[in-house]
Amino acid sequence: MKPHINVGVFGYGTIGKRVADAVLLQPDMNLVGVTANSYNFKIKTAHEKGIPIFSDIEGFVHVEHGLRVAGSVDDLISKSDVVVDCTPKGAAERNTSRYKKYNTKAIFQGGEPSSCGKSFVSQCNYEDCVGHEFIRVVSCNTTGLCRTLDALHWKYGVDKVHATMIRRAADPWDIYHGPVNALVPHLIVPSHHGPDVRTVLEDMEIFTTSISVPTTLMHLHSITVDLNKKPSVDGVVGLFDASTRVRVVKNSDGIRSTAEIMEYAKDLGNSRGDMPEVCVWEETMGVWGNKLLYIQAVHQESDVVPENIDAIRCLMGTSSSASIELTNKTLGLF
Ligand SMILES: NC(=O)c1ccc[n+]([C@@H]2O[C@H](COP(=O)([O-])OP(=O)(O)OC[C@H]3O[C@@H](n4cnc5c(N)ncnc54)[C@H](OP(=O)(O)O)[C@@H]3O)[C@@H](O)[C@H]2O)c1
Repeated sequence: MKPHINVGVFGYGTIGKRVADAVLLQPDMNLVGVTANSYNFKIKTAHEKGIPIFSDIEGFVHVEHGLRVAGSVDDLISKSDVVVDCTPKGAAERNTSRYKKYNTKAIFQGGEPSSCGKSFVSQCNYEDCVGHEFIRVVSCNTTGLCRTLDALHWKYGVDKVHATMIRRAADPWDIYHGPVNALVPHLIVPSHHGPDVRTVLEDMEIFTTSISVPTTLMHLHSITVDLNKKPSVDGVVGLFDASTRVRVVKNSDGIRSTAEIMEYAKDLGNSRGDMPEVCVWEETMGVWGNKLLYIQAVHQESDVVPENIDAIRCLMGTSSSASIELTNKTLGLF
């Protein structure tokens, strides 16, 4: 039997706690532990789940809160084959030298620059990332765009794309960010999403714009694609139905909004009420000559979680089909 992959999770916030839970569900992985940057309910919960906690914080408040620290962050890195770095934008890049010191492979998140590691979306470029030391799982928005655009390119050939990201203001738990009562256009074009897509789908002609709106649930993408062949709505529905991690949702099922997608995820029994699949509304699909128009919703807190699990196996040399199948099975994904 192959030895388990030892995985450390650095940063136990929105993404880190989900990745850690997903690692615990993998039959070929062992969660070495997670890091604590301060004491809070998330670390308390990790402790209650029996997850080992590593911290560099001097006098980390483990005694008064009844927590035991298993070691320093360097201990976690040295014991791990792969560290999934889920620290906030900017912090992770500074950790690169620590991973190199211990010869530990690492996965960065979309907040980091693409120079940190090879950009990764499982169903698009897994095989190109095998053998790399560092992988960067691209942002929630870029992941969502890549999933549907790659499928369309494969079936119809994409000439060019324009997409507008209608972005949630903050994550649901976040009491610090906004806007609360404004629509805020991003005043630089293209927004960073288009260039970021091209770090995965290198030949994709894509121009993106972006607006932040006062909601916390999901992002929406309004997408116009010029295809090389005239599509049909039925053909695109069939294509997306057959594509992994893409879910076609319907107004006719009463799913008319991001609020109803989130309720649907809870009704499905998904952990934390997450929806890791990108959701495309069937009724928003329109064909105009060779143009295809559609609207999709991205659950920012969870769509990158399966990519992180696949990225761990990719760094360790597992094939894409074996990894995607196992990740989907263990996480209950389409
Ligand atoms: N949230 C999303 O919607 C989303 C979606 C896709 C990708 N991403 C990307 O994922 C990454 C992580 O984002 P997140 O939303 O998960 O962040 P988050 O919820 O703020 O969590 C960050 C975690 O890192 C810890 N931390 C903070 N500063 C640190 C430091 N200097 N050194 C070590 N640990 C530190 C925090 O601990 P304390 O709380 O104790 O400070 C927390 O556990 C970013 O690159 C982000 O762009 C986020």
